[in-house]
Amino acid sequence: MEVGIGFLGFGNIGSGVFNIIKANGQEIEKREGLRLTVKRALVRDINKKRGVEVDPGLFTANPEDVLSDPGISIVAEFMGGAEPAREYILRALEKGKTVVTANKEVIAIHWPELQEAARKTGAGLYFEASVAGGVPIIKAMAESLNANRVLEIMGIINGTTNYILSRMSDEGRSFEEVLAEAKRLGYAEPDPTMDIEGCDTMYKLSILASMAFQTRVSVEGIYREGISSITVEDIEYGKELGLAMRLLAIAKKQDGCLEARVHPTFIPQSHPLAAVRDSYNAIFIKGDMVGNLMFYGRGAGSLPTGSAVVSDIIAACHNRGRHRGMFAGNSGVCREEAKINGNWETEFFLRLTVTDKPGVLAKIAGVFGKHQVSIASVIQKGHDRDTAPLIFVTHKAQELSMRRAVEDMRHIPEVARIENLIRVER
Ligand code: NAP
Ligand code: HSE
Repeated sequence: MEVGIGFLGFGNIGSGVFNIIKANGQEIEKREGLRLTVKRALVRDINKKRGVEVDPGLFTANPEDVLSDPGISIVAEFMGGAEPAREYILRALEKGKTVVTANKEVIAIHWPELQEAARKTGAGLYFEASVAGGVPIIKAMAESLNANRVLEIMGIINGTTNYILSRMSDEGRSFEEVLAEAKRLGYAEPDPTMDIEGCDTMYKLSILASMAFQTRVSVEGIYREGISSITVEDIEYGKELGLAMRLLAIAKKQDGCLEARVHPTFIPQSHPLAAVRDSYNAIFIKGDMVGNLMFYGRGAGSLPTGSAVVSDIIAACHNRGRHRGMFAGNSGVCREEAKINGNWETEFFLRLTVTDKPGVLAKIAGVFGKHQVSIASVIQKGHDRDTAPLIFVTHKAQELSMRRAVEDMRHIPEVARIENLIRVER
C-alpha cells in the first residue's frame, strides 16, 4: 500500500526522517507492506541548501500544499514551536489526516484541543519522537505499562543539557563552547534557550507525567530551573563530594498529590543516571506491579529521532480507523488537572561566598536551625583575599523551608554572595 506523507518542516528531524525512508524504505515495504512516499515538505525558505539529495520540487512555502493535498494521508510535523504548528496540526486532524509529531511544546500545551480534534474525525495523533528522541518511552507508557499504577518517574530527558553538563564535567570545558558543539550536532532546539532554561524538559515531563498518572500535568504545575547558572566550580565541588550534576525531570505521586519538577540535580557518582553522558537520555519508572524500569538511548539528533517518527508512521498505518487516545488510555480526553505539591523534600547543596570572620559559620548554622534544616556536611576552602567559599550539604529538608533559610542568609552581612543552591537526590 502506498502511504502519502506530507512534512511540515525539513530541518534536522525532517531530513533525518527523509533519509531513513530513503535508506530503509524497501525494507519497510517488504516487512510492513507499506510504501512510504514523501509528497511535499513545507519550509520557510524553499531555496535553502539542505545537504540532502532531494528533488527541489518537494519543497513548498504554502501550507495548503500539504494540508489540502488529498494524496497525503499522514502529516508529519517537525517545525517546532507552538504556533503555527498547533494551527496546522489542528487543520490536518480536522480533515481526517493522521498527525505524527516530534514537537513536545505543541503537545504539552495544546494536547486536549488536539486530542479532541483527533477524536472527532478518528484521525491518529502520534508523538513518540516528542520525548527522549529515539527511546521508545511513549509506546511503553501507553501500552506496556498499562497494568500498573506509576509511582515515580525520574530521568534525563534533554540531550543538549546532558551533553553540556557531562562535557563540562569530564573535560572541564566552558558552557558556551560545549553549547556551540551541541548546536552543531543538531541536538539543540531551534531556540536553544528552550534546552538551557529547562523548558524542553518541562514540556516532556508534562507529557510523560500526564500519561503516567492519567491526569493532566500542565506546564504551569511543573517547577522549572535550567542550567544557565551552573558553573564549573559547582561541578568541581560536587565531584569532591562524590556527586555528579545532571538536569533531572522528576514526578512522584504521594497521598493523592503530585510533585513535578525540573532542575539541575546532584546525584551520587555511583547512581545509574550519572553514567548517562552526552546526548543520551535515560528514564527510570517505578510501577506498583513491575517495579523499577530504566529506558536508555539517544535522546536527540536527526536519525534517532527520525527513527521514532518513522515507527509512529508505520504504527499509524496499521492502526488506521482505530482511534487511540494516548493520554487517557482509550477512554477519551483527560482534562482534570493534577493536584500539585510544591513543597517536596530533598537534600540540598548550598555554595556561599563569605567574609572570612570568626562567627560567620555559627550565624549561618543558626539560620539553618531556625528553618528546621539540618546540616550533613560543610566544606570551607582556601581564602581569596578576605572571602572564602563555604559549601553546605543538608539532610533532607522541605523545599520551602530551604528557600526561606536562603532568603534569611541574604541578610547576614558576612554572606557576600549566595552562589548556588542545588538539589541532591540519592
Ligand atoms: P530545525 O532544524 O530548526 O527545523 C525546523 C524546520 O521547520 C525547518 O525546515 C524550517 O524551515 C521549518 N519551519 C519552521 N517554522 C516554519 C514556518 N513558520 N513555516 C514553514 N516552515 C517552518 O528544527 P529541528 O531540530 O528539526 O526540530 C524540529 C522539531 O523536532 C522541534 O519541535 C523539536 O523540539 C523536535 N525535536 C528535535 C530533536 C533534535 O534532536 N533536534 C529531537 C526530538 C524532537 P527552513 O528550513 O526553511 O528554515
Ligand atoms: N533539544 C532536544 C534535546 C531535542 O536536546 O533533548 C530532543 O527532544
